[in-house]
Amino acid sequence: MEEVSSPEQQPLIRIYIAGKQHIHYVEEILDVIEESSKARGTGIARRSPEYVAQKMLEGKAIIALCGDDFAGFCYIESWSNKEYVVNSGLIVKPKYRGFGLAKRIKMFSFAYSRRLFPKAKLFGITSGAAVLKINNELGYRPVTFEQLTQDPAFWRGCQTCVNVLQRTDFKRCICTAMLYDPAEHPNEVLEDLDKI
Ligand SMILES: CC(C)(COP(=O)(O)OP(=O)(O)OC[C@H]1O[C@@H](n2cnc3c(N)ncnc32)[C@H](O)[C@@H]1OP(=O)(O)O)[C@@H](O)C(=O)NCCC(=O)NCCS
Repeated sequence: MEEVSSPEQQPLIRIYIAGKQHIHYVEEILDVIEESSKARGTGIARRSPEYVAQKMLEGKAIIALCGDDFAGFCYIESWSNKEYVVNSGLIVKPKYRGFGLAKRIKMFSFAYSRRLFPKAKLFGITSGAAVLKINNELGYRPVTFEQLTQDPAFWRGCQTCVNVLQRTDFKRCICTAMLYDPAEHPNEVLEDLDKI
């Protein structure tokens, strides 16, 4: 595919609930996440190829493709007996950045998560300005870490990140915690997935 360099050349990108037909993208997805994390100099909850492939098989991953070219990804996790849901691992391949794709992937993943787990609270922890902005638009609000899941399995993901959280007894980090509580959105209208 040709280099994409301006909004006028905005590529046609489709977003899918990932399945077994997408497993061959796992290596590229993890490579792009790793390279982006190094470039930003921030940490990341590192996931194994098997974990990401399993998410695809469970229908809990979202993939964006431009034709056959991988463009973006994120996955869905549930914690504390499905009381909390997280949309994690958001990544957009560098050449597809700046076209609103992260926003579309997050909107898709949000609407899909709300349908899969209608009673769950959604949360995210991020140090990225783009994600803070998108989450805010989706109705998330900033909270303290104590208001998130206490499920140790979630926090184990932070062990592969820079060590701030571990040094502060899992109370503070460079990440901002954001929460979407469906009880605070009684008039919520969810987007149709095929229109995103
Ligand atoms: C962060 C990332 C996903 C953004 O992808 P993208 O497709 O370029 O983002 P979008 O075009 O959808 O931008 C969404 C909004 O965030 C803003 N934004 C994007 N990148 C930004 C940045 N680095 N700093 C501040 N704002 C940013 C955009 O201006 C846009 O705002 P708008 O709706 O007012 O126009 C992408 O840069 C990436 O994959 N980075 C590496 C991985 C990463 O940081 N993941 C997040 C982990 S929490």
